[in-house]
Amino acid sequence: MNIERFEDDELLSAALATRVLESIVARPTLVLGLPTGRTPLGLYRELRERSGGNLIDWSQVRTFNLDEFAGLDPASPNRYRAFMQAELFDHVSIDPANIGFLNGSAPDLKTECRRYEDAIDQAGGIDLQILGIGANGHIGFNEPADGLCSHTHVAELETESREANAQWFGGDWRNVPERALSMGMATILNARKIILIATGAEKADAVHGMIEGLISTRLPASILQVHPRVTVMVDRGASQRLSG
Ligand code: PGA
Repeated sequence: MNIERFEDDELLSAALATRVLESIVARPTLVLGLPTGRTPLGLYRELRERSGGNLIDWSQVRTFNLDEFAGLDPASPNRYRAFMQAELFDHVSIDPANIGFLNGSAPDLKTECRRYEDAIDQAGGIDLQILGIGANGHIGFNEPADGLCSHTHVAELETESREANAQWFGGDWRNVPERALSMGMATILNARKIILIATGAEKADAVHGMIEGLISTRLPASILQVHPRVTVMVDRGASQRLSG
């Protein structure tokens, strides 16, 4: 794993946005895997600001988001799709047809998961996958467990993950859906290149375990150690338990 340290979230986000925009310029048909959550807010702000006025042509870029809540009303503002529209998609020249997203209100969620895997395959696979990490070491909604799912699947959320999302659900974790659809570990590991971002001291233990610990399904992000092209971008807080 290639580790890049930044003084704060702002510098990290700016550097990552530069890398994403350079990737789009070098490959206008880039297939981009995207996360939601607090950590990528700075990245999306930078991408919005620096893509404006058609500065960057997103028209052939394809995106696939990591996960989506199951069972929310299609009009719910808490869907990750709504988050992505507000934070990024509504502000850049992406073709809506090129936005890949899991539909958490699909009548048959297993069929929906298979559709998503096929769509990623048909796009030629993900070139660059951006990831956050949960304080419990999850990536996407691949939660710590004795076993992990390889492909896109219906996931039961840990209470800790529901608490981490509570701010978008009136502050009460019990309002956060119990299930979500998520890319699996193989879906993520199949990406040609992965950049994981982590900010804040509450991620320090998970970051330490992911990089310096043994590979374990109890810390799903540690499985990224087997991928040949992973960069981890951390701020001062998230890197405080790393040696060296
Ligand atoms: P966060 O979530 O960015 O809101 O901390 C990260 C994650 O759970 O993957």
